[in-house]
Parts: sequence; C-alpha cells; structure tokens
Amino acid sequence: METLVITDVSPRDGLQNQPVALDTEAKLALIRLLAAAGVPSVEATSFVSPKAVPQMADAGELVPLLNRALPDLRSSALVPNLKGLERAHAAGVREIAVVLSATETMNRRNINMDLAQATDVSARTVDEARRLGLRTRAYVAVAFECPFEGPVPLAAVERCSARLLEAGADELVIADTIGAAAPGQVSERLAAISRSVPLERLAVHFHDTRGMGVANAWAALQAGVRRFDASAGGIGGCPFAPGAAGNLATEDLVLMAEQSGFHTGISLPDLLEAVDFAEAQLQRPLGGRSTAWLRRRMTRVTSPEATAG
Ligand code: COA
Ligand code: ZN
Repeated sequence: METLVITDVSPRDGLQNQPVALDTEAKLALIRLLAAAGVPSVEATSFVSPKAVPQMADAGELVPLLNRALPDLRSSALVPNLKGLERAHAAGVREIAVVLSATETMNRRNINMDLAQATDVSARTVDEARRLGLRTRAYVAVAFECPFEGPVPLAAVERCSARLLEAGADELVIADTIGAAAPGQVSERLAAISRSVPLERLAVHFHDTRGMGVANAWAALQAGVRRFDASAGGIGGCPFAPGAAGNLATEDLVLMAEQSGFHTGISLPDLLEAVDFAEAQLQRPLGGRSTAWLRRRMTRVTSPEATAG
C-alpha cells in the first residue's frame, strides 16, 4: 500500500483568519489531538508581523511548548522573511516554510514586496535556513489563479518553483490559495512541473472554495504526488487573498485516500475529536464535505443502541 504524507495546516492556515483567536494552550491542545490521530506533520504557526496577523503573535511561545510536549512530531512554521526565520530559529523551529506568490499583486498584498523582491527574500530565507540546518518547505502561492490578477500563467509558477528549488528547498508546495483550480488544470500543471521537480519533493495545497478540493487532490494523486496539505475541519484561508474559503478538509482527504487504497496513518474517529475541539473553540460548525457522514457513522459504530438496532 502506498503512503501519503499529510501536513495538517489547521493550526496555521486554519487559525490565522479566524475572528476568534485561540490562546496558546488551546493551539497546543489542537496539535496534540492531531498528533494523537496519527497526523504525521503539522504546520504549527507562523512568524509573521503580529500587526499583519495578530492570531499568530504567540508563535515564539507555542513552539518551545510544542517541542517539549511532542518532541517526535514533525512540525513547521511559516516565515515571510529573514526576521521571521531568526525568530523561528530562536524559538527552536526545525522546519520552516516560505511563501512566494506567483503574481506581483499577491506578493504586495501578502508580504508587502514585489515579485522580484519576494523571490529574492524567499530564496535567501531558504538558503539561510539550510545553513542553520533546518528543513525547508517553499510554497508557490496562487499557482492557478490570483484574486487580483486572475488566471496565473504556468510559466510564472515554473519560474518561482525553479528559483526556490535552486535555493535548496526540500519540498515545493504548489498552492491553490483561493481554491480556484479544477482537476484538469491540476493534472496539466503537475505534469509540467514534475518534469523538473522530483515527485518526492513535490506537495500540493488545495482550498475547497468551489467544492473541487477532493477532485483536485485525486488529480494530484494520479499525477504521482504523495505529499498533501489539508486542514482538520476544513478551516483556513489567507486574510490577504479575498475569496479564499477553507482548506481541503483533512478528513475528506483521508477518507478519499484510504477508500482508494492509500495509507495515511490517520485515524478518522480520532481526527474528528480534533475537529470537534476546533469547533468548540471557534464556536461555529466546521467540517469538510464528508464530516457529517463520518460523524453519523462513528455514532453508529460506537453507540450500543445504534449497533443493537
Ligand atoms: N515577524 C515579526 N515582526 C516582523 C517580521 C516578522 N517576520 N518582519 C518584519 N517585522 C516587523 C519589523 O521589525 C518592523 O517592526 P517595527 O515597526 O517595530 O520597526 C515592522 O514589522 C515593519 O517591518 P517591514 O520590514 O517594513 O515589514 P512590512 O510592514 O513591509 O511587512 C511582513 C512585511 C512580511 C513582515 C508582513 O507583511 C507580514 O508579516 N506578512 C505575513 C502575511 C501572512 O502571514 N499571510 C498569510 C500566510 S501566506
Ligand atoms: Zn492556504
């Protein structure tokens, strides 16, 4: 059986845009539940400007607590620049992620840099992180469509990817930041990108805005990708990318993958505990396309009345 490596980004992508800010203890509790469900990798937080994203202002407190609580869990933190890297390194982060958007306007809105500057800063950050002995992920954001500039040329995505790989990124993450991609495009783009990027270094990050998250993940699987981002309960979205709904829900991805014969190492009943916890914390219903069905099935399996009937 082939294994998928899923990075749950709910603690970062999921929480960065929520009206209710979780405290550090609650974030740690969420990550503990994800780890207990067998999630092999989490994106725990981001070391960005607290003015830009107040929800992530406690990154420096969270990371040491997390490293102590779950020393064996693979976890990463997003950093937008060298200052973020410095803060992350000081906190004890072992893996970082940089975000380079494939368009001018998205970089401006997200990190206040033009494309050339953002490319240079991302590459230097990856390079410096490697020098510090950290593992590196590099996102190419808005890799399909930009909320400001519309459809993004494949050549722009390929240029960003090449530069980030050249800088030495261990993993390249092709991100559909606003959830605008369709499976046909995913197949086409990944076929092109995987001509120059080894599949074992390629990951994908989908949002489910148009209900095509699972279909896009299937297209990526068919293209040979085995590394996926997803978010428990489908929470997520970039505050600087208007129109981005939640991420592809981890439970949807796990269900699709396991039912299709792939191994994820993630227990769905246990993952639902993380979703329930996030729901209680955020005080609103969460979940992907399959969550209601999964919950009904779990109730049937676990409740004696239901099984007796
Ligand atoms: N962490 C914390 N503070 C940071 C920082 C970081 N990584 N990078 C810069 N700063 C601080 C500077 O020290 C400076 O502080 P001061 O005002 O007290 O002197 C202030 O932020 C402005 O610095 P500057 O370099 O001019 O940054 P900016 O205002 O142009 O903002 C970013 C650039 C990248 C820091 C900011 O846009 C950002 O954090 N963006 C992240 C967006 C994000 O998280 N998006 C979602 C994930 S994709
Ligand atoms: Zn995202």
